[in-house]
Formats: sequence, structure tokens, C-alpha cells
Amino acid sequence: MTGRLTIRPATEQDWAAIHPIIEQVVREGETYAYPMSMSSDAARELWMEQPPGLTVVAERDGAIVGTAKMGPNRPGHGDHIGTASFMVDATARGAGVGRQLAEYVIDWHRRQGFEGIQFNAVVASNEAAVHLWTSLGFEIIGTVPNAFRSPRFGRVGLHVMFLPL
Ligand SMILES: CC(C)(COP(=O)(O)OP(=O)(O)OC[C@H]1O[C@@H](n2cnc3c(N)ncnc32)[C@H](O)[C@@H]1OP(=O)(O)O)[C@@H](O)C(=O)NCCC(=O)NCCS
Repeated sequence: MTGRLTIRPATEQDWAAIHPIIEQVVREGETYAYPMSMSSDAARELWMEQPPGLTVVAERDGAIVGTAKMGPNRPGHGDHIGTASFMVDATARGAGVGRQLAEYVIDWHRRQGFEGIQFNAVVASNEAAVHLWTSLGFEIIGTVPNAFRSPRFGRVGLHVMFLPL
């Protein structure tokens, strides 16, 4: 991984490269409370946002190494607060891809006029994520105790995290 990282909106053609990243993260089972077995179509439905949301990919040397999705956290009178989800290929982690995706996501929310970003369920044992979000200004609003069954750590909390914009 040497080249420049580009972040751009995902296309339908990108799905073949995005799906294995999602499968891997779901299989790890440590970071998202997604169904453990999902068809490709169900995963696509979950991940590929339609406007007003957006799904992006992070590409380096022609390869998709990460993806994020973003959009309103709630419909109707809650749609001034956004939310987002992130997945970086395990072989590409720790090299700044997650941080660059997060900076893109924050900038996108600002440009769209959102007033804040809420993460609904950050697994408390997910040190990389908690470190990254905190370093970008997100605060832990509260933690639902024992709300996630981590294969590694057993029952752990789920943080609600918030960044006012
Ligand atoms: C969380 C995730 C998106 C971060 O992506 P990444 O490309 O590895 O992140 P970066 O390389 O930009 O690193 C971000 C920061 O986390 C730190 N970090 C990485 N792994 C860490 C770990 N295990 N413990 C503590 N900090 C860690 C890095 O040092 C870096 O901090 P710094 O910039 O202050 O040095 C990625 O690990 C991932 O996809 N995990 C599985 C899915 C997931 O957890 N999504 C988020 C759910 S809320």
C-alpha cells in the first residue's frame, strides 16, 4: 500500500469488492451487531445507501480497501442529525484509511447542513474505533451495559457517541 488514497462515491460495479470487506467484518463478529449470515443482496440493501444518504469507497493502487456509509440517523424530525458506518479491509487497517474515511464523512455532513453526527452502537471493546472517534471530537454520551456479546470479551457495552457540528 503505497499510492494515494482516494475516497469517492460507490457505484454498483464496486459491490463485488465491497461485499468481501463486509463479510469479513461480520464474520469477525467483534464490531457490528449485524446478522451473522446475510445474503449478498441483504448486505447490499443494508450497505448501499440511496439519497439523501451516500456510500463511499476508499481506493488505493486501484484496490478498494475500505468503505463507509452515511445519512440521516432518523427520518422526519430527526433528520438533521446524521450517522455513519465504517469498514476497512483487515489487511489495510492501521494505515490511516479509517481516519481519512471519517474526515470525509464529517466534511460531508457539514456540507449537507447536518447539525451533528450520532453513532448508535460503538462496541466498547473496539479500541481502534473508540480511539479514532474520540480523537475526532466525538464524545461518549452514554453506554448501554452488556448490550453486545463479543466473541473475545464476552458481554460488553455499546456506546452512543456524538459530535455536534
Ligand atoms: C475502526 C476502523 C474503521 C479503523 O480503521 P483503520 O484504517 O484501521 O484506522 P486508522 O489506521 O485511520 O487508525 C485510526 C487510529 O486508531 C488507532 N488504532 C488502530 N488500531 C488500534 C487499536 N487496536 N487500539 C487502539 N488504537 C488503535 C491508530 O493508531 C490511529 O490512531 P492515531 O491516528 O491517533 O495514531 C477499522 O479498524 C475497521 O474497519 N474495523 C472493523 C469495523 C469497525 O470497527 N468499524 C467501526 C465500528 S464503530
